[in-house]
Amino acid sequence: PGLSRREFLGIAGMAAGALALGGCGPFSGGGRDLPGSPQARRTGETREHLLRAAPLEFEAGGQRLLTWGYEGDVPGPEIRLKEGDTLRVRLRNELPEETTIHWHGLPVPNAMDGVPGVTQRPISPGEEFVYEFVVPVAGTYIYHSHVGLQLDRGLYGALIVEPAKENLDYDREYVLVLDDWLDGAGGTPEDALRRLRDSGGMMGGGMGGATLEYPLYLVNGRPPEDPATFEVRRGERVRLRLVNPSAETVFRFAAGGHRLTVTHADGQPVEPVTVDALRIGMGERYDVVFEADNPGVHQLTAAPEGKEGLARALLRYRESAASSPPPADLLPKELRGKLLTYADLKDARERSFPEDTLLGGPDRVYRLTLSGGHGSYAWAIDGQLYPDADLLEVREGEWVRFELQNHSMMVHPMHLHGHFFQLRNDTGRGPFKDTALVEPHMGHLAFDFVADNPGEWFFHCHNAYHLETGMARVVSYG
Ligand code: C2O
Ligand code: CU
Repeated sequence: PGLSRREFLGIAGMAAGALALGGCGPFSGGGRDLPGSPQARRTGETREHLLRAAPLEFEAGGQRLLTWGYEGDVPGPEIRLKEGDTLRVRLRNELPEETTIHWHGLPVPNAMDGVPGVTQRPISPGEEFVYEFVVPVAGTYIYHSHVGLQLDRGLYGALIVEPAKENLDYDREYVLVLDDWLDGAGGTPEDALRRLRDSGGMMGGGMGGATLEYPLYLVNGRPPEDPATFEVRRGERVRLRLVNPSAETVFRFAAGGHRLTVTHADGQPVEPVTVDALRIGMGERYDVVFEADNPGVHQLTAAPEGKEGLARALLRYRESAASSPPPADLLPKELRGKLLTYADLKDARERSFPEDTLLGGPDRVYRLTLSGGHGSYAWAIDGQLYPDADLLEVREGEWVRFELQNHSMMVHPMHLHGHFFQLRNDTGRGPFKDTALVEPHMGHLAFDFVADNPGEWFFHCHNAYHLETGMARVVSYG
């Protein structure tokens, strides 16, 4: 394939920088035009929120559940603002433990990133902390606690950043927050970790493949018996923002009676691709649109992969007010149809990483294995358990590549803080994401990013239990 005009200009502009490749020049990215994190223009608007993290009671599946959450609700309140706005959140810790908030997916300044012991001192019970930053880029994100297993309680919510100018055409939007739930219904997250450890990693999937069965799966805090209902009108274009802050569950999502056109992966635009169903890993987000052209009442299903049970919501056409919903155990046939893969996703941002052959390749490559089990429940990156682990050093301006190889029997949603990365896949223009699944049994994944946000950044598995046992590293700007 020939070069587009833009690619050609890009290469010409990079010739000088390419000479510095492989060396340890002081700022080897200088002069190169790499696709770093987008920066929005400041709007000057400030959005203020108070988030009280506190114990709360909520009802799901006919049980009263005692848990921890924000502002008395699960999920926490949706935060919605425009790119370029300033977000100011006062976090008040009314929990019996330390806590923090992480703005999952957003490349915020390092001190605002919410990682205890890495970017800030955790906030003690009774204390407050103010997070404040300019929101740099539109998309669908998550905010959540980054302390211990608190994510597997109710300490999460959706963070929606609208673009300065919307260029997606839709009439109506809903946000679906998917979760696996055990807190108060099957002990606490700490009990769950004890069970995993006692099993020596033998629970569920066998050696090293220990997995948690959850008593409940929720959409927007609602169990399948009492689902959230989303109304649409015939003829509308409907946008769904899907977010998965669950601790331990990959969901397969499908909308009964409709195909889904995927428009964004982890908040970043991709070339629209139409599928029947998609997998959404822990920490991932997808935006989809569909035409409301099939009146009735349909099920929006999130089936937990490899586990019993179901999360669901309902899609109800105004025109079909009287129809009754499909039974909860009837899975839409779309779940068995064409499933989105990373190879189907093509970046639709302005700039991608250029072909290595033309540029000489990245400045720095880390090849890392993912492993676990070995008779005890612990998960490692390249054989090391955080915090007893080497830094992954980078320098500002570098083009960095991570190549990950999964030597274990479980899938690992690997998440990088502070940066978007571009998946290297067959399309040559993989999507920009911040979280990506590395498949079990020698699954392989490679991605590139520009080191353009100095600081100490967490890189870890977004399975909360894997993270808790050590599956993390710090990417450090030397
Ligand atoms: Cu959403 Cu380090 O996490
Ligand atoms: Cu993992």
